Amino acid sequence: MELPEKFADLGLTYDDVLLLPGYSDLAPSDIDTTSRLTRELFLKTPLISAAMDTVTESRMAIAMARQGGIGVLHRNLSIEDQAYQVDLVKRTQTGIISNPVTIGPDATLEQLDRLAGEYRISGFPVVDSDNRLIGMITNRDLRFTPVAEWATTKVDEVMTQQPLITGPSDISREDATALLRSHKRERLPLVDADGRLTGLITVKDFVKGEQFPDASYDAQGRLLVGAAIGYFGDAWERATTLIDAGVDVLVADTAHGNVRMLIDMVRRLKTDPATKHVQVIGGNVATKAGAQSFVDAGADAVKVGVGPGSICTTRVVTGVGVPQISAVYEASLACRAAGVPVIADGGLRYSGEIGKAIVAGADTVMLGSMLAGTEETPGDLILVNGKQYKAYRGMGSMGAMSSRGKKSYSKDRYFQAEVTSDDMIVPEGVEGQVPYKGTLATVAHQLVGGLHQTMFYVGARTIPELQENGRFVRITSASLKESHPHDVQVTVEAPNYRA
Ligand code: XMP
Repeated sequence: MELPEKFADLGLTYDDVLLLPGYSDLAPSDIDTTSRLTRELFLKTPLISAAMDTVTESRMAIAMARQGGIGVLHRNLSIEDQAYQVDLVKRTQTGIISNPVTIGPDATLEQLDRLAGEYRISGFPVVDSDNRLIGMITNRDLRFTPVAEWATTKVDEVMTQQPLITGPSDISREDATALLRSHKRERLPLVDADGRLTGLITVKDFVKGEQFPDASYDAQGRLLVGAAIGYFGDAWERATTLIDAGVDVLVADTAHGNVRMLIDMVRRLKTDPATKHVQVIGGNVATKAGAQSFVDAGADAVKVGVGPGSICTTRVVTGVGVPQISAVYEASLACRAAGVPVIADGGLRYSGEIGKAIVAGADTVMLGSMLAGTEETPGDLILVNGKQYKAYRGMGSMGAMSSRGKKSYSKDRYFQAEVTSDDMIVPEGVEGQVPYKGTLATVAHQLVGGLHQTMFYVGARTIPELQENGRFVRITSASLKESHPHDVQVTVEAPNYRA
């Protein structure tokens, strides 16, 4: 009897390879990092923030989309809370806000102030019960009423009344700019022939548009946002509620994606007339067969990574995983032929690894630890010996999976949805902290800058050229030592390197 072959090829990861330099005749302006996120969506910056509760909530998702990437909102929260986060992103930096937050004339200034804080906006159209525009109220109008009177003062007592400067529902960007400029207004409400409010344009959004030229937008000029979903229990309800809130991409967020229930769910999402317009990412897988399952189910991209993450213990707890460069390469063998983009998820520590992932077959990368500790992540600063840190934990850690005062929604990511007692949880991740890193913009600048340099060295103008032309050399542990700074005591910290 012939024994089955037990060993796959040697698995390689980021530290096992370097990219070969190639002939280059590029000017910096020739380089274009635009890449495919899914079958239908492109990103100017191929970076995705991880769906983790210490990485991506609305603030991070907004910051990522402004930098030309995208954030995936984590799912360790109720369906309503996650959908609300989607709404917060979709309301930020919008070409035209088609469903602006409004207030009625009888609301008190106290209620208005609460609404302003919740949505982080400073001005509201005031509408009657028929949605007819009757005024505008902004921070400025509040300034002349003492706070002590806010509970008893009504909106219509201090709002700016009609006649207001308004625009028609189908106003062009140019005409709107001209109107705002000539009347020195910050907001332009849009109304139909009957005076009903149909939209709102704000100067701030226009300015932000200029400030973030690479930002990722949907067809209506709103920032792109992704949200994580599972496959257990109320997963379908979560997916459809997120779609109703305007999510652009649903991301199957599970440690092992090659699972019948999840594959069925992806197939259903991509065939149901109510959901199939939304992009769906399947994952995580680490083999060609796993990627093929999602390609066959109609996924719009496949996410790769079983155990490479900085906070993951899956490989040591279960003994399962595939070194990430090999995993990405294997998955790309199934995806490339079908025109389905690949996401390399987890395990990246330096900007140079973005290019390595792309040459191995990825189109974009998902980052956890590299973005953890930035200003926009959830959580407070932690001071240790005078240095600032922020918490960063695995979604399979005890902290994320146990109740600890609040319900955990992340257990089914690790196949433990039905474990009711915290004592019975088998964690697959750790909890820790990372140094505070400043704003996402400064971190993203170094990451994209590093990728630009990779493309220059390899001689690739575009991401497809990098995928096509890039070649690896396999290296030894002696070479790895040579790659990092050596025989020197580093005295000044670089913004893109930590030992
Ligand atoms: P990095 O290396 O960027 O990895 O910090 C982030 C990715 O790790 C995955 N993830 C986990 N994997 N146990 C795991 O095995 C965990 O507790 C865990 N939490 C997150 C996830 O794919 C993320 O994008």
